[in-house]
Amino acid sequence: MNEQMQAETRVGIEALGLYVPRYYVSLNELAAVRGVDPNKFAVGIGQELMAVPAPDEDVVTLGANAALEALEQVDRSQIDTLIFATESGVDQSKAAAIYTHHLLDLPRRCKSFEVKQACCGSTAALQMALAMVAQKPTRKVLIIAADVARYGLGTAGEPTQGAGALAMVVSSQPRIMAFDSEWGSYTEDVMDFWRPNYLDEAVVDGKYSIKVYLKALAESWAQYAEESGFDHADHSRFCYHLPFTRMAEKAHRQLAKLNGLEVSDDTQIEEGLRYNRIIGNSYTASLYIGLTSLLEGTTEDLTGHRVGMFSYGSGCMAAYFSGVVLPGYRTHLRPNRRVEQFETRVPLTVEAYEAFYQHELPRDGSRYLTPQHETGHFRLSGVQDHKRLYERASRSAKAAPAHAAQDVALAG
Ligand code: COA
Repeated sequence: MNEQMQAETRVGIEALGLYVPRYYVSLNELAAVRGVDPNKFAVGIGQELMAVPAPDEDVVTLGANAALEALEQVDRSQIDTLIFATESGVDQSKAAAIYTHHLLDLPRRCKSFEVKQACCGSTAALQMALAMVAQKPTRKVLIIAADVARYGLGTAGEPTQGAGALAMVVSSQPRIMAFDSEWGSYTEDVMDFWRPNYLDEAVVDGKYSIKVYLKALAESWAQYAEESGFDHADHSRFCYHLPFTRMAEKAHRQLAKLNGLEVSDDTQIEEGLRYNRIIGNSYTASLYIGLTSLLEGTTEDLTGHRVGMFSYGSGCMAAYFSGVVLPGYRTHLRPNRRVEQFETRVPLTVEAYEAFYQHELPRDGSRYLTPQHETGHFRLSGVQDHKRLYERASRSAKAAPAHAAQDVALAG
């Protein structure tokens, strides 16, 4: 393909938006209450803070808030398709994308649907979006990846919980990253992590999932390297799916070994871990929050640098792919907003976090108004006749941790 044709078919990220819940719990405090050495969470798992959604937040509100930021510099009337990737969806039938389409006031001609394959659903959405835009370059596709990671109080997975959303507009006028066209993929039927319809928490064989993750990395990298002709040295930075940040260190070490390198260079991954370390696992969003962390946090100008990306979804499907950072990318990112987002979050006591965790919506169709907590621009106001009700948030209360617990107690 000559350079002119390559320029014509370049597809990538035009805009990004990130949203995290307004509450968090410190893993040092969680360790103290659970009777665990805090270094196990801070060093062994590599997590500091865990984002906790309030009872009036769910994947729809998380996703809509992230999309609001992504759409700031994009004409909404040009959004042709909205793909919502999640594994903590709110309905077995109706897509979270439809609620979000309404909240964002997107055009009626915009197709809207949900996709699922564990944490890799967002990458499946990206592959779909790349093909859609390549087929018709005037299309713009909005991808929303949003999840709430739940493993159960007191379980080994608990410190790896978290929540968050990442939205990106994929188009033929990318301003942040253009994707390379060669991908490696891997699928195998394994039971490392799953969530039957009747459970609110995932069932996980954590140690096994780490093994399968590393195997899927080796397999998908092999295909990617074979088809692209790129080797390890062609990438200046690497982003990995981040169930917890230590996982990236394990993966990066393995990738180095596979490529005959004696040591791995952790500076190639560390800026990409910063946001996830203080958010926790956000399933479908985690790889792309990692990419945002890298692009917003690296002081070096990454223009023209190739970033290797590994997406893993338990069950399992994985993909290895890459993208090149575009000139001027920094002017389309918002690192200062991130500082504000993270610094104004409200700390929860472990007791208040547990109350949030245990909050349940009625299952009998009765009318229920969700107590108002600190949220973004949208909130789940309640349910009635089995219908979820969303609204624009009317206040941004700086609730103290004790109030948060009290509100939930009142709601119950
Ligand atoms: N100081 C420093 N490190 C410590 C420590 C301490 N006091 N105590 C334990 N560690 C280390 C362990 O050595 C281990 O490191 P290693 O992985 O390099 O061997 C790490 O902390 C985790 O501890 P371990 O006891 O092995 O695991 P666990 O039973 O707590 O489970 C997970 C850890 C990740 C398996 C569990 O959190 C989980 O199931 N998470 C959800 C699933 C998941 O994220 N899967 C990933 C693929 S998608």
